[in-house]
Parts: sequence; C-alpha cells; structure tokens
Amino acid sequence: MPSAFGNTMPYQADPQLEQFVRELPKTETHLHIEGACPYELLKRFDPIKHAKPPVFWNDYFRYQSFNQFMDLYVEYCSVFFTGAQQFHEAAKIVLANCSSQGCRYVETSFHLGTLLFIEDDGPTIIDAIRSAAPKNLELRIFAGMCHNDYVDAGKDLIEECITWNGLDGIDLHGPEDLPLEPWIAHVWDRARKNGKFTKAHAGEFMGSNFVDKILDELKVNRIEHGVRSIENPKTVQRLVDENIALDVCPISNVKLAVDGIESMSTHPIRKLFDAGVTVTINSDDPFFFGNRLSEEYYALHQELDFSYVELGHLASNGFKVALIDDSKRRSHINELQEYMIQYSK
Ligand code: ADE
Ligand code: ZN
Repeated sequence: MPSAFGNTMPYQADPQLEQFVRELPKTETHLHIEGACPYELLKRFDPIKHAKPPVFWNDYFRYQSFNQFMDLYVEYCSVFFTGAQQFHEAAKIVLANCSSQGCRYVETSFHLGTLLFIEDDGPTIIDAIRSAAPKNLELRIFAGMCHNDYVDAGKDLIEECITWNGLDGIDLHGPEDLPLEPWIAHVWDRARKNGKFTKAHAGEFMGSNFVDKILDELKVNRIEHGVRSIENPKTVQRLVDENIALDVCPISNVKLAVDGIESMSTHPIRKLFDAGVTVTINSDDPFFFGNRLSEEYYALHQELDFSYVELGHLASNGFKVALIDDSKRRSHINELQEYMIQYSK
C-alpha cells in the first residue's frame, strides 16, 4: 500500500494483515513533528526543490551517517517550520494520519532550538500543535534538545520551557556522541519536579554503556531507541528489572544503518521483546524513512515472525507507558484485549 508520502515500502501487507493492523488500537510515542513533515506541505512551500520525491524514500537507501541525516533534516524540513502556522498545518495532517491508522494516543516532540529563529514563542507553538489534534486522539507534546544546546539564548529557553504549562515533557535528541554535559541531569531533575515527563535518545548510535550512563545520570524511565542495549545482557536485564521502556523505531534503525542492524531480520527488537523488555513501536521521522506506523508492524510480522498476538502485546505496551490516568489506560487496554479475542483462538 502506498505510504502517506506516495512511495511504496518493501513492507506490504496482505488484506488480512492490513486490516488487523489498521483496526488494532495503537499508540505512537516516538514521533518528531519536523521529521514527519507532510510532503504535500513541502511541495507547496518549495515546488521546485520538492518536484521529485526524495532519494531517501528508495527502499534500499541507507543514510551514510547521522550527520548526513541531520544535514538533510535541515535542508528538507527544518526550513519549513518558520512559525506557529507551519507547526499547526503539519500537525493537522500528521495527527489525522496517526488517527486514521488506529492510533489513540500520540507523543510528539518539536526541536526547542527552532524557537531561537522564529517569532512565535514556545506556548504559542505548543497551542498550535495541540489544537491540530483530532478529538479522538490523546496528544502529549515534548520539547527536544541536543547535548550542546545549553548556550547563550538556548540556555534561557531550556530553563524557561520546563515551566510551560502546556508542555508535557522533554526529550534529549540529536548526536549521541557529544558529551553528556552536567546541565542535562540538573534540568531533567528539575523538569520532573515541575511535573514534566523526561525521556532521552540513547543506544541508537552509541552502545549499551551509553544507555547505562543515561539511566544512571538522567534517571529517565523511557529511552528513545535503546536498541543497542542488546550488546550487553546486563543492560537488557536492567531494563527489565527497572521497568525501563524503549520507544523503538525499527525502519528508522534499518535506514540509518544502526550498528548491528544490516536488515530488518537482524533487528534486536525480537531479542529485547523475548527477554521481557517493554518495547513500543513507532515511526520516528516518517518523512525521512518513507514509512508509516502500520509498516513497522508489517515488518515485524514478516521479517521477525511476530505473531498477531505478539503485535497486540507490542501495541498494548504503548498504552502501558502512555501518560494517561489509570482508568483511561484500563479502558484502552480493555478495548485492545477485546479486539484481540478474535485473533487469539
Ligand atoms: N532527531 C530526529 N530524529 C532523530 C534520531 N533518529 N535520533 C536522534 N535525534 C533525532
Ligand atoms: Zn527520535
């Protein structure tokens, strides 16, 4: 089935799988709004540059490095986000698309540093994103920041954002190999005291030691990616024992050529899941990978032998980690369990 971007991924479903995944109540807890920018908006913004679909939609395309990916990120998407209007328009399409794929709950992040270059302030951007959500979709909004963003006006912005009422949490993203500067742990700690949820990217381009370091220093209980935890059985066991969830993005990992992931069939999510780690399934930056959330599920079924029941378990992990009250959590999980009855015989 063509993706939202008009291309065709290698992960196509037969009608039964397609229907199963579409109707499965799901979540998306790792989605960068800039990296999900709809192609139709980019084409309107710069028809010449976007006249042809980008090469990175090719199924066999692999990013040569994270730096190359980041350069393309700025070139293709970041330039589009010049104000609240653009965040609103993008979020409207992105969130409607999540909802049409059966998502009940979404966590999305925007890059905080963008605010240094545009006129609208953080609360205005947050309102613009929130007001774009369809009624039947629960939305949580995160500000993403890089290891080296705590300088000059960036420092004030970081300090300020953890006081914004409309912001649900913060996320550490960008190049993982930059030093984990001491401000990060302090800000993460104070953000939690202000009621914000904290997460961090780790174990995507750095190994399991970095996952341990992030857990030790930032005290998060959700890691974005975290897949390289597989390199150390002790780290994997720690994720289980300490109930740390991983927001995994399998197609992103393949296309970004994460160490040890030459193809979907070698993706460690199978081993992490079997070891008892709470993993959720997500699309990360769908504009850059040409993927849809549904295709992540197809890929796991087709290349890693996840049964329908196991896909249901993965979907329920999303509700398990969702930032909602327990009665809502129970009602989503009940809906999912009822849906799964027909597939569990
Ligand atoms: N920002 C957007 N996508 C990212 C990724 N996959 N890893 C780290 N930072 C990101
Ligand atoms: Zn990410």
